[in-house]
Amino acid sequence: MAYDLIVLGGGPAGYLAAERAGHEGMKTLLAEKRFLGGVCLNEGCIPSKTLLYSAKFYENALHGENYGVKVKDIALDHAAVMKRKEKVVGRLVMGIRSQLKRNGVAVVEGAARITGRDRDSGGYTVEVNGEVYTGKRLLIATGSVPALPPIPGLREGLEKGYVLTNREILSLTEVPESLVIIGGGVIGLEMASYFKTAGSRVTVIEMLDHIGGNIDGEISSILLKSYMEKGVDFQLNSRVTEVKKDSVVYEKEGQRFEVKAQKVLVSVGRVPATEGLGLERIGVGLSGKALKADERGKTNVPEVYGAGDVNGRFMLAHAAYREAEVCVNNMLGRRDMVRYNAVPSVIYTSPEVACVGETEESARQKGIDFEVGKVSMLYSGRYVAENEGGEGICKVLADKRYGKIIGVHMVGSYASEIIYGAALMIEAEMRVRDIKELVFPHPTVSEVIREAVFTF
Ligand code: NAI
Repeated sequence: MAYDLIVLGGGPAGYLAAERAGHEGMKTLLAEKRFLGGVCLNEGCIPSKTLLYSAKFYENALHGENYGVKVKDIALDHAAVMKRKEKVVGRLVMGIRSQLKRNGVAVVEGAARITGRDRDSGGYTVEVNGEVYTGKRLLIATGSVPALPPIPGLREGLEKGYVLTNREILSLTEVPESLVIIGGGVIGLEMASYFKTAGSRVTVIEMLDHIGGNIDGEISSILLKSYMEKGVDFQLNSRVTEVKKDSVVYEKEGQRFEVKAQKVLVSVGRVPATEGLGLERIGVGLSGKALKADERGKTNVPEVYGAGDVNGRFMLAHAAYREAEVCVNNMLGRRDMVRYNAVPSVIYTSPEVACVGETEESARQKGIDFEVGKVSMLYSGRYVAENEGGEGICKVLADKRYGKIIGVHMVGSYASEIIYGAALMIEAEMRVRDIKELVFPHPTVSEVIREAVFTF
């Protein structure tokens, strides 16, 4: 069968590109080897947010007295939480399936492998389940897989089921009595948040001296403090040396420690999934494991595009969406490119963290002359009304020369919903004086951005 476009991978990049291409009249085939919706929908963003929402609900009930609400017999029913997660995921996957259908996209379930080029048409040949398809164009959107560091015992643990990745932890039927998390990045923190609330004893072992990867240093410290108050144990500057059946061994400041672990989560980053795709058959370039694709999504091979985690850039579903759209636009001859300077990122823990643009650390490294406007979230009446004991902050960075907004960083409730406004400010190259003229709805937590800007 001949297609205008064959999409390899049905995650956010793949399914959105297929939908858009189908909508534009391209005869499109999408191949997915596991689940339509990819990691994000089935084993990542959506399941974790479902769990975290239940945890938040539970915590609100636990602290209901602070708000004049008395609740008796509060319990978090993990099995019921998981059941709801399945329902949410099922509903969204169904939505994607019907969107693809509506846009005339053919879907084939199986692992796709590029086999070469068709002599007559010059199209690319792709094999799925023994069937060969030809595509004038290809979109590689195969995502990423969890990075597995060479720690003795880790792979054995994965095989035996006591070491988990994001995939397995989001399907655990029982709350482990103790959970050791290797890596205090986004996945590690979100899972620490849920499982601590659900009743596990949680230890996070992180090799750096801070958590949250590249997030603003001050925000990372606030997050660390709030987690520690909840009882999560952090071992920073620590290196795991062995994973055993019921414990994890690590080194810190030259000393050896061992901590009990019924389950171990490995969350030390992800690796682009480019193995076994047959990319070498048509000469597609890689950088390490990442597919080399430019801001237009183009690889070094004509009519072969790449979008999403597979390019190793941002590894965020929302970046993947935009990359997918850009690829399709360029396939259609509409020049388009992704601007990466205003891609927001969120950690959906309690409290939430949301960031966009430069941090103080990255701006300093780039030699940008900048100033910082910072306020406590307590400047927002809505925040005070809804957050007993909350300690959020909002930080706005502006370049000194033109007063342009270059970064916004927040920790506190609603941060995830507000951050797109800050991304817009950066995208639109707004200056401090432009923001001062904006009217923000009152009372909302978004007003903290305005307050921060007025400290300049
Ligand atoms: P990550 O890159 O966010 O964090 C990995 C952490 O592990 C880092 O802090 C790193 O220093 C640490 N680390 C690395 N090797 C280690 C070792 N041997 N021992 C101890 N610590 C070690 O990666 P993570 O959390 O696995 O997430 C993977 C990807 O998924 C990220 O790119 C993230 O952006 C994405 N994601 C995004 C979410 C969101 O947008 N809310 C939610 C979950 C994942």
